Amino acid sequence: MAEIEHIVVLTGAGISAESGLATFRGPDGLWEGRRVEEICTPEALAADRELVLDFYDQRRRALASVQPNAAHKALAFLDRHWPGELLIVTQNVDDLHERAGARRMLHMHGELLSALCGACEERSAFGGDMIGGPRCTACGQDELRPDIVFFGEMPYEMERIERALMEADLFVSIGTSGAVYPAAGFVQMARHAGADTLELNLDPSAGSLYFHETRIGPASALVPAWVEDVLATASSA
Ligand code: APR
Repeated sequence: MAEIEHIVVLTGAGISAESGLATFRGPDGLWEGRRVEEICTPEALAADRELVLDFYDQRRRALASVQPNAAHKALAFLDRHWPGELLIVTQNVDDLHERAGARRMLHMHGELLSALCGACEERSAFGGDMIGGPRCTACGQDELRPDIVFFGEMPYEMERIERALMEADLFVSIGTSGAVYPAAGFVQMARHAGADTLELNLDPSAGSLYFHETRIGPASALVPAWVEDVLATASSA
């Protein structure tokens, strides 16, 4: 492995699958049997607020019964021990990376445990149900919506992510199907800027051909093994 200092890790629903959270695509996926446009768009929220809030209320409740798995824990270990730059970018809206102890991370598609006020646009920590009309802690209006980036909306922190991708020596994608942009394009951005690229996934993703290397298997096995390798490289450098 060439000498590396800057690492960007991208995670998707596959990293939380072994914790018991459903992925989006595939036979048991959240989008199977549902039309994404009826749930995950600003238009859906305007057309059927109850349906959208209920979908995310159920997913928020599901967080209470799951725990970080070996893959989240290994990334948190990497976060604490990697001597160079590291950024973990997750498309996931669960809080399993944080609960495992990761700090140098961001949620590009928002968070279930956050609310966005439709009136004042304030983002605030939120743990309950949105059906029932809780009020914004900042402005007092009852226009809270899940702080989730819907299809057609701009993901969070894109400038910071793009900067990190430009500087990356290594880009690693974990548990994502590569079906949704802009995240699906990160591998090409990092590669064009000179990074080595590695995919860890249960199945080859839509963008597998763009990676220098793809390892196929469950995240709970592949991620701890990769973290061990990359930390061994750092300590022998
Ligand atoms: N270990 C590793 N990978 C796994 C595992 C596992 N145990 N289980 C499933 N996977 C892989 C699947 O093979 C698939 O490629 O995880 C990927 C999950 O893909 P998606 O369900 O499409 O999830 P994701 O890529 O995160 O979706 C991207 O789509 O609707 C949206 O906004 C939502 O952030 C989400 C985005």
